[in-house]
Amino acid sequence: MGSRHADVVVDLLRLYQELSALPTLSPNAHTNAVFSELVRLATHLEDDQVARQILAHPDVRRIIPGLRSLCSAGEFELEGAWTRQIIASLDPQRELREFPYFANYEQLTRLEHHAVLGVTGCAPRRVLFVGAGPLPLTSLLLAGRYGHTEIDNVDIDPEATRLAARLAEALHVSSLRFRCADVLACTDVADYDMVCLAAMVGPHPGDKTRVIKHLYRHMRPGALLVARSAHSLRTLLYRPLALSDLAGFRPLVVLNPHTEVVNSLVVAEKPEASQPDSRSPDAEEL
Ligand SMILES: C[S@@+](CC[C@H](N)C(=O)[O-])C[C@H]1O[C@@H](n2cnc3c(N)ncnc32)[C@H](O)[C@@H]1O
Repeated sequence: MGSRHADVVVDLLRLYQELSALPTLSPNAHTNAVFSELVRLATHLEDDQVARQILAHPDVRRIIPGLRSLCSAGEFELEGAWTRQIIASLDPQRELREFPYFANYEQLTRLEHHAVLGVTGCAPRRVLFVGAGPLPLTSLLLAGRYGHTEIDNVDIDPEATRLAARLAEALHVSSLRFRCADVLACTDVADYDMVCLAAMVGPHPGDKTRVIKHLYRHMRPGALLVARSAHSLRTLLYRPLALSDLAGFRPLVVLNPHTEVVNSLVVAEKPEASQPDSRSPDAEEL
């Protein structure tokens, strides 16, 4: 392996060690610095072959599941801490813009909005965001920047749901609704024109496919699925979505950013011709 590959692998193992050794993943100067270094490493523009060799390294393969779990937990803690801070602030709007990944979400949501416009020619009206989190920044940006007036947010975590609802209140945003539920228990999704799936929903192999098959079963024909994924070294942080995970949804566009934006996105459609999938017993069997 060339020195670049070796350097990246050594850095990754060190960062994983540091994150694993932290007593808590709650944000502080040191934790933020370690995560920021990891995100910089994962979004650094690498030659495809170099990236493949790094991801194929046995030590890297061994740590990837743990690294993704640490990133999810760290992201959840960061969002929770910032939402409490924003709610408590004298100027919540200004405080929100101080969120360390605000610009990242601005770019990601802009990419998603225009990708959907690009393939459909119009902005979907009724939106469901699955996995909104304690800081539902995507939904806030869709409402604030792109005129979406009907966005329902679902999260499996009661505290995340409670915080997100309080945050929308503090920001005087009334077009967002919040519900605490596991998406796998949500069958009333046929009215949505677009369902967005956060990258952290379905973190383990098989989970994401289970969620997408469930949505396929209950979404209406013609509705859109916008699912977050990851490519290249960004797959160190998030599990990538394979086209085979789409379970009948017809892929329309896949976007892999090479900017500071971490997530990739897949825009897919439930084909018009498809009938509610009650005939194929394997829909839920995984
Ligand atoms: C941290 S958020 C990230 C999204 C980000 N806040 C945004 O606005 O794009 C991801 C959330 O997904 C939620 N989640 C994970 N699995 C889920 C499931 N099966 N059903 C609903 N929510 C889920 C987690 O509780 C977590 O709060």
